[in-house]
Amino acid sequence: MKKSIVLYKSKYGSAKKYAEWISEELNCKVLDMDKVDISSLHVFDNIICGQGIYAGNFSVGKDLANIIETYPQKNYIFYSVSLSDPNSEVDRDSILKSVESAIGSANLDKVKVFFFRGDYYFSKMTLVHKAMMWMMKNMLKRKPEEEKTDDDRALIENYNGSFEFADKSYIVDLINYVKGIGLV
Ligand SMILES: Cc1cc2nc3c(=O)[nH]c(=O)nc-3n(C[C@H](O)[C@H](O)[C@H](O)COP(=O)(O)O)c2cc1C
Repeated sequence: MKKSIVLYKSKYGSAKKYAEWISEELNCKVLDMDKVDISSLHVFDNIICGQGIYAGNFSVGKDLANIIETYPQKNYIFYSVSLSDPNSEVDRDSILKSVESAIGSANLDKVKVFFFRGDYYFSKMTLVHKAMMWMMKNMLKRKPEEEKTDDDRALIENYNGSFEFADKSYIVDLINYVKGIGLV
């Protein structure tokens, strides 16, 4: 039987929530990326790793690139968690570009990527993040009206409120992928 582990980096809980849902479905271990000892990963066949997107970036990419370089033969699955709708083609492309720049284009072919949508709670944010969101809201406001997406408008109106988009149904494709190609 193949062994999986889910690693996550989560500032406000969404990527962690998805990691726990995936680990329940696959009956596998789940661990905060910051607590991972890379040498202990040799026992796993499948490494599933996820993080929320921050200003278009994933800081977890460097850690994941190190793991891929240490164990190039394992199966890698990455899930992104974003506020923007991951079903939109434009958002997927920009998320994929961010994943590529985080893990390096040479590693992109080795990683299957899934896109999830997360929660957003302004009241829980650090002051720096609150300031970043205020700036993002003002930047979006300056976009020409015809270029604004529905997500842009929702954030302009409610940047200092909350959105609850995390939903277990997003993981179905990932679980089917892992089960379907005999990774369990
Ligand atoms: C400072 C900041 C920047 C963000 N930047 C983006 C972004 O560029 N694109 C996006 O879709 N979501 C963005 N988000 C939303 C987060 O990706 C979303 O809230 C996610 O659920 C966070 O996951 P986590 O709680 O596991 O860290 C941002 C959130 C914050 C606080």
